[in-house]
Amino acid sequence: MQVVVLNGVNLDQLARRDPAIYGGISLNELETRIYDWAHALTMSVRCRQTNSEGEYIGWIHDAFDDADAVIVNPGAWSHYSWAIHDALAVLTCPIVEVHLSNIAERDEWRRHSVIEPVATHRIMGKGADGYREALEYLVARA
Ligand code: DQA
Repeated sequence: MQVVVLNGVNLDQLARRDPAIYGGISLNELETRIYDWAHALTMSVRCRQTNSEGEYIGWIHDAFDDADAVIVNPGAWSHYSWAIHDALAVLTCPIVEVHLSNIAERDEWRRHSVIEPVATHRIMGKGADGYREALEYLVARA
């Protein structure tokens, strides 16, 4: 199974963001864990991150032909980017929406995700382990 993991805006700054909320790990450490978990599950994974919404949408378009499943954490775009919603809506493969923090228990403006209606499954508030859970979910449903 080929899975693409798309981390969005400001996730490259993970190590500098509030460790009480984001766990204090770097994007590099997070991606290393994802690659290790995927290897253990005999899955093929590609992790990407960008701060450009257009680039992010282009990677979602690419996933139509290149991926069997996508794991997305669009960061703050999750709360307002209908363009990312529409790009994900084109996909026919499973889409797992992951958030490191529990957006349901944070600021009012974070509680709504425009990605939710197109997500096959959602995981939030589990830190880096949420990505492992997403991989395990995809293996279990394959
Ligand atoms: C986030 C939650 C978003 O509200 C925030 O803007 C992020 C990260 C998370 O992983 O918890 O950048 O998606």
